[in-house]
Amino acid sequence: MSAVLIIGASSSIGGALAKHYLQQGQTVIWLSRTTADFSDPKLQVIKAPDSAETADWVSHQNFFSSVIEAVQQHQVGLIFNCIGWLHQDSEPKLSPEKSLSQSSGTLLRKTLLLNLEVPVFYLQGLWPYLIKTSGIRYLQLSAKVGSISDNQLGGWYSYRSAKAALNQWIKTASIELRRSNKTAALVTLHPGTTDSALSAPFQRNLPAGQLQSPTQTAEHLAEVAQQLQAEQSGLLLNWDGRVLGF
Ligand SMILES: NC(=O)c1ccc[n+]([C@@H]2O[C@H](COP(=O)([O-])OP(=O)(O)OC[C@H]3O[C@@H](n4cnc5c(N)ncnc54)[C@H](OP(=O)(O)O)[C@@H]3O)[C@@H](O)[C@H]2O)c1
Repeated sequence: MSAVLIIGASSSIGGALAKHYLQQGQTVIWLSRTTADFSDPKLQVIKAPDSAETADWVSHQNFFSSVIEAVQQHQVGLIFNCIGWLHQDSEPKLSPEKSLSQSSGTLLRKTLLLNLEVPVFYLQGLWPYLIKTSGIRYLQLSAKVGSISDNQLGGWYSYRSAKAALNQWIKTASIELRRSNKTAALVTLHPGTTDSALSAPFQRNLPAGQLQSPTQTAEHLAEVAQQLQAEQSGLLLNWDGRVLGF
């Protein structure tokens, strides 16, 4: 049985995905700045660099050589990247914009770093594995608010824009990937509103029943991954498998 790589595994959703696949008896490679708070014989941990350390991509060739060695050794067939960022409670306090006047270079740069640059850093680092691994599936967590056609409410300028750019990046990379690996599927995925540190300040006005637990989300996303076909590569998918407009 092939293994699962979870990038940003200490996220609420990533951790729940890890537990889900371990319960199925699959090997999980936990790639995170933080080690898991549980142990399992099928859990492999790789320490991730902090985003401040990833600014110079070229200097991480050794890191990616060891990641690729691990994914090859465990025959990883499924990859989730869960890295993302929305707000910060510590100083300087940063929150998604309600109006344009609240935008700032600090907020925009941090939002782009963690929702676009760091995900692309991992995609590029894993590229040599993606182009030659038959049937590989790579699911990049994104957000429905990054859909430009779906934007009816406004607000959250930086986060929306970073996720829209991420969707475009993954779509573009899926076209390049298809040229060398027709069996691969590379998609963006909206996990649904999930109880986590990221969503905590924004849960108050949610319609009843909309907030999912990380465990529920992990089950949904694992189902999407299970059904994912190479022909769907490049799409933005919802947590229930529906195709969302860009
Ligand atoms: N929760 C929701 O309602 C919701 C809705 C739509 C989309 N999403 C998306 O789903 C994904 C997971 O969300 P979540 O709610 O599970 O998030 P979370 O619990 O807040 O976890 C955030 C993740 O981002 C990484 N991260 C944060 N700051 C970082 C830094 N300075 N350097 C490197 N990595 C950093 C963490 O990596 P480490 O593992 O290294 O700590 C962690 O994996 C995100 O992309 C989010 O945008 C979530």
